[in-house]
Amino acid sequence: MKAQIIDGKAIAAALKDEVRARVAQAQEQYGRKPCLAVIIVGENPASQVYVRNKVKAAAYVGMDSRLITMAADVPEEVLLAKIAQLNAEKAVDGILVQLPLPRHIDEDKVIDAIAKEKDVDGFHILNVGSLWTGKSCSVPCTPRGVIHLIKTTGVQISGKIAVVVGRSNIVGKPVAKLLLDENATVIMAHSRTADLKAIVGLADILVVATGKPGTVTGDMVKPGAVVIDVGINRRDDGSLCGDVDFESAAEVAGYITPVPGGVGPMTIAKLMENTLECFIERNERR
Ligand code: GUN
Repeated sequence: MKAQIIDGKAIAAALKDEVRARVAQAQEQYGRKPCLAVIIVGENPASQVYVRNKVKAAAYVGMDSRLITMAADVPEEVLLAKIAQLNAEKAVDGILVQLPLPRHIDEDKVIDAIAKEKDVDGFHILNVGSLWTGKSCSVPCTPRGVIHLIKTTGVQISGKIAVVVGRSNIVGKPVAKLLLDENATVIMAHSRTADLKAIVGLADILVVATGKPGTVTGDMVKPGAVVIDVGINRRDDGSLCGDVDFESAAEVAGYITPVPGGVGPMTIAKLMENTLECFIERNERR
């Protein structure tokens, strides 16, 4: 194997320790702990794992958290009423509604119901608009984690060609904007891209977030590229894999993230950082 592994688990652990120290300091300064409210609707097993890990991380960094579980058939108004209540609560600094939501609930309506000052996911329409126009805002956790991981390689982003495969609101689009902010030349590829191999082959920095195993194979990767695999897919045998064929890509890439242990732990660490930043921001504005 040629590539150096980017150890997301270790990098996330270091970030959580840093956040933990900042939380202790902020608690001293403002006289209370940050508090993150996490809402999960239904019983999607992957979502349950993610939510549990978020609550666990909050405890680790010294924050309070509240886990609110709702049945899969909860009426949209009940969820919206809960969000309104959490918006109004002084002691709550961050609100996260785990996605995806059941089909009868309007996801955009729910996201935009969260007070933008408590939107630790950075999904609120006003935060998205602020991100794209270069104003200060909550920045989505996974994209922030991706940029952090790229920076740990020491590879300069400015001036490089970055290819983002996948155009979701949660990952593809915000990660492209953050790469643009780092002065990369950004190309977005997706399911309708005519010649994915030709486009991926241009990438000095490659971020793959399609949710489809085998989207990128080693023969497509530019030698020496930084490969960030955002995918978390479950194989038939229960094991996890990313969107990139790790074995073949690691023969060609300069740096590559594993799945699990790459981007996943960073998302949670960045959520802690976002929650802390919302807490500080809210206390400073009072
Ligand atoms: N589902 C998958 N990723 C995310 C995320 O970053 N935040 C929320 N709220 N739901 C998700």
